[in-house]
Amino acid sequence: MRRIIRQSCLKNGRHFIFLSMVAVVSLFLFAFTSFQHSVEWLVPLSAANTKNPVASNTESLAAGKQIYTDNCVICHGIYGKGDGTKSSQLNTKPRDFTSDKFQKQADGSIFWKLSQGRDPMLSFEKYLTEEQRWQVINYLRTFGSKK
Ligand code: HEC
Repeated sequence: MRRIIRQSCLKNGRHFIFLSMVAVVSLFLFAFTSFQHSVEWLVPLSAANTKNPVASNTESLAAGKQIYTDNCVICHGIYGKGDGTKSSQLNTKPRDFTSDKFQKQADGSIFWKLSQGRDPMLSFEKYLTEEQRWQVINYLRTFGSKK
């Protein structure tokens, strides 16, 4: 009987250590994610300096609008205000594309962020071609004038 008790204590002890470790790791992950979102999203200088090779014209804007409607509206909203239907479920809110802060960024910076992604936004490098990413950036520029 005593042996059984001792064995079960040992087991519980191991469980306790294991659970503590899980708790500590979760805490670190949580702290890291919160930290990640509280800091500015920095872009490497070389990426920021990349010029947009796609001219902003009726054709590329139409293509950009279609890409935006299919892939971005759900979070970023029809007018780019960050109020898409899914936005209320996100811990990190999408930034307002109509704001000066957003519009002041270089196309290269936006391209880099869009390509890399940051949780909860996925990395669009795998889903959109380079041309499509530049086209949608041309379309994001049209939000700047809609205040
Ligand atoms: C699942 C929701 C979701 C989808 C879909 C999504 N985004 Fe985002 N996006 C976000 C969130 C949330 C952020 C803010 C991330 C952060 O700051 O950590 C963001 C950030 C961005 C940024 C960076 C803004 C800045 O100045 O820091 C750009 C650019 C962007 N999104 C463009 C797009 C485009 C273009 C698409 C479609 C091709 C798209 N996103 C699709 C949620 C989404």
